[in-house]
Amino acid sequence: MKTIIYYFTGTGNTLAVARGIAEELGDVQLIPIRKSVHPEEGHDEADAIGIAFPVYFLNIPDIVRDFVENIRFYDDSYVFGIATCGEQPGGALFRLKELLEEKGNTLSAGFSFVMPENYIGPVDLMGDALHREKKFAAASERYPEIAAKVREQVVSVPEGTDSVLMKTGGRIMKTVMTSVYRTPCHLHTAKTCNRCGTCAQICPTGNITVSADKVSWGKDCVQCYACIHWCPKEAVDIGGRTKGKPRYHHPDVTLKDMLEKPDSIKEDYSKIR
Ligand SMILES: Cc1cc2nc3c(=O)[nH]c(=O)nc-3n(C[C@H](O)[C@H](O)[C@H](O)COP(=O)(O)O)c2cc1C
Ligand code: SF4
Ligand code: SF4
Repeated sequence: MKTIIYYFTGTGNTLAVARGIAEELGDVQLIPIRKSVHPEEGHDEADAIGIAFPVYFLNIPDIVRDFVENIRFYDDSYVFGIATCGEQPGGALFRLKELLEEKGNTLSAGFSFVMPENYIGPVDLMGDALHREKKFAAASERYPEIAAKVREQVVSVPEGTDSVLMKTGGRIMKTVMTSVYRTPCHLHTAKTCNRCGTCAQICPTGNITVSADKVSWGKDCVQCYACIHWCPKEAVDIGGRTKGKPRYHHPDVTLKDMLEKPDSIKEDYSKIR
C-alpha cells in the first residue's frame, strides 16, 4: 500500500509524528508543504493521503489551508489528517474536513497528538524536559494504532472538539495575536546575529532577507515560529518578549530535515489550480 503524507512543520513536532506513523506503515513518501510548492505528480497514485500540520489558534494554519484548497485529488484515495498541538486541537481537523468537502473530497479520519508547545507568548507553556518526554512517549505509543487504522482505511469522526466555544476562542486568539499583539510585525534580531542565513533558509514563505548588515522580515509571516526556534544564536526576538526564553525543536528533527525539498516538488502550483 502506498501512502503520501504532506506535512507542514515549524519546529519538527509534526514531522516527527508523520515519520513515526510512516515507519509503522512502510512505503510512505513524506512531502513538505511550503509556500508556492505543489506536487505535480504522485498523489493520484497513492492509496492513502495524509495531511499533517500543527494546530494554530485551535484551527488549521493558513498556509496548510491554502495548500488544501489548491491540491487536486484525482481519485477516491483514503484521506486522513494529523494535527499536532501543545494541549488542545480544538476544531482544527473539523476545519480540514470542511475544506476537503468544499472541494468534493472527504476526510476519512483525523488524528490529533499532544506535543511540546512551541508558541512563545505571554505565558510560557513549553514545559520542562520531563513534561516533553511524557508527551513524546504518549505520541509514539499511538503510532501502531494509527497506522493500522490507515492501513485498514477505517472511517471515523476527526479527533478534537468542534464546539462554538472553540471556534470563537480560536478566532479571538488569532485576532489578539496578529492584530493586537502583532506577533509578525515585531520580529527582529538581537546583536548576537551573525547573518548566517539559517532563518531565511528555513522560513516557509520566504519572508526573511539576510543582507551583509541586517536581517529583515516582510509581511508574509504565517507565525510558524521556525525562525525564532532554529536561529543558532537565539537572536530572533518578538518585540523583546522572547528574550531569555528557551527555544525548542523536536530532538529527532535536524535543520537538514527541515530544509528537505524532494525533487518531485515543483515550485509553482498556481498553474494547476
Ligand atoms: C501561532 C501558533 C499557534 C498555536 N496555537 C495552538 C493552539 O491553539 N492549541 C494548541 O494546543 N497548541 C497551539 N500551538 C502549539 C503548536 O500547535 C504545537 O506546539 C505543535 O506541535 C507545533 O508543531 P511543529 O513543531 O510541527 O511546528 C500553537 C503554536 C503556534 C506557533
Ligand atoms: S538565523 Fe539567527 S544568527 Fe542567523 S541570520 Fe538569522 S537571526 Fe541572524
Ligand atoms: S518569518 Fe519566521 S515565523 Fe514568520 S513564517 Fe517565516 S519562519 Fe515562520
